[in-house]
Amino acid sequence: MFQRTYVMIKPDAVERRLIGRIVSRLEDVGLTIERMELAEVTREQAEANYAEHAGKPFYPGLIEYVTSGPVVKMVVSGEEAVAVVRKLMGATNPKDAAPGTIRGDFGLSLDANIVHGSDSPESAEREIGIFFS
Ligand code: RTP
Ligand code: MG
Repeated sequence: MFQRTYVMIKPDAVERRLIGRIVSRLEDVGLTIERMELAEVTREQAEANYAEHAGKPFYPGLIEYVTSGPVVKMVVSGEEAVAVVRKLMGATNPKDAAPGTIRGDFGLSLDANIVHGSDSPESAEREIGIFFS
């Protein structure tokens, strides 16, 4: 099914000059970059995006981290775009992510794991609304 998803290149990856290589991986599998913007994430946007994790021990650090520097916000579309992006990203913890995935190849730690991608079509529409309102 044709879908849209929200993808975000996290602060550590922007700082490490990895934007181009990450965008290339999305384009290499035929996904379309519909919107793309370099921006700071506000605390409100970060809290809304990660609301499902509120109250967990890692939540304050996660909000702190994602607001710590500029990110690249993207709307990405294509056939099964949500699952395709999640597969390209690899496992949440870079130590578990397979070689060839974005996190497996570039990720340094569970916090600095390079990229965010929506986990369902419903999350995607919600997150696109948060970051491109
Ligand atoms: P994301 O939302 O960033 O795309 O990552 P994800 O779906 O693969 O993982 P999720 O479970 O949604 O977790 C969101 C972010 O929180 C950090 N995390 N830390 N210390 C921990 O146990 C822990 N668990 C998750 C990660 O940075 C993850 O990307
Ligand atoms: Mg998630």
